[in-house]
Amino acid sequence: MAKITVSLIKADIGSIAGHTTVHPDCIEAAKSSLEKGQKDGIIIDFHVTHAGDDLELIMTHRRGENNEKVHKLAWDTFTKATEISKKLKLYGAGQDLLKDTFSGNVKGMGPGVAELEFDERGSDPLIAFMADKTEPGAFNYPLFKIFVDPFNTAGLIIDPSLHQGFILDVYDVVENKGVRLNCPEEMYDALALIGTTGRYVIRKVWRKDGLPCAAVSTTRLSLIAGKYVGKDDPCALVRSQHGLPATGEVLEPFAFPHLVAGWMRGSHTGPLMPVSVKNAVCTRFDGPPRIVALGFNVTDGHLVGPVDLFDDPAFDLARQKANEIAEYMRRHGPFMPHRLGPEEMEYTCDILFSIIYTNTLCN
Ligand code: F6R
Ligand code: MG
Ligand code: MG
Repeated sequence: MAKITVSLIKADIGSIAGHTTVHPDCIEAAKSSLEKGQKDGIIIDFHVTHAGDDLELIMTHRRGENNEKVHKLAWDTFTKATEISKKLKLYGAGQDLLKDTFSGNVKGMGPGVAELEFDERGSDPLIAFMADKTEPGAFNYPLFKIFVDPFNTAGLIIDPSLHQGFILDVYDVVENKGVRLNCPEEMYDALALIGTTGRYVIRKVWRKDGLPCAAVSTTRLSLIAGKYVGKDDPCALVRSQHGLPATGEVLEPFAFPHLVAGWMRGSHTGPLMPVSVKNAVCTRFDGPPRIVALGFNVTDGHLVGPVDLFDDPAFDLARQKANEIAEYMRRHGPFMPHRLGPEEMEYTCDILFSIIYTNTLCN
């Protein structure tokens, strides 16, 4: 049997009352578009959801990664949802669709893509993570914890099938270059790169025997567009259990709402709050940055589920902590490190730089 591919493709195609959430009519339009794709035999199964103002398409097929038909289906789906956004005059209608015509692959056209091709295991649990108001590097910390840190993942020590470790594919989004690092052997090298979250991004993770484990979207909209067009709200796929980190080990890093770049105007540091889909609506200061996790079983290419994994009181404390951190960070107003450094806050840095050059009265 051909391998199965899970493609998670997302785009901000407009939202209600600011950059808060996707309109239900856009979700419905996306569902009927993918239903047609299913009938036409392009995909096997799908699930449509949202994270904040991002429309998220989770699709399965046997066509492999970067498949033109699947990417075109996603692009056409975003285009159809954009038509609804435009009709309703939603905010930022079509925001992430940076090109007019599809040219073979949605990468480089605006949408974020996380894809994993694999042989379906006897039972194959998979978690789709979708974040809003942050950037792909937000996944560096949790993925390192999941696949390299035994203080997070007990299985790294006590399950012989995880004991050999994992390979991280770290990608430089500025130079478009990747490097594969064996962990735990090269974990210090990995950390030297992935601590710089705005530039070096974990793109893929494999087990040492080559089993694909995780994929992250790595778009930099600002680099594609040459001007600021919003942060690249990222998504990721992580497989779990039976020789991989358990679902609970995959979710565990999110009990600590670590600081990420994004939030208001893509220009602030704030905590990443784990939330249910119904609470994935960005409000306070357009945030705080949020992450949703949907759990599935991939069964004969179909998506069984989802279970809304952060819809659980076990993450209440993380949410409370995130609110406290949000409050603390907000009190800094326009001061760094709450506000990002000028190189990361593409939004208004031209204004900041021009003040000093046009208004200098004395040396
Ligand atoms: C951040 C984001 C929002 C907007 C902000 C201003 O990723 O989408 O915080 O940057 O609401 O939006 P505009 O400039 O569209 O009024
Ligand atoms: Mg938006
Ligand atoms: Mg967004």
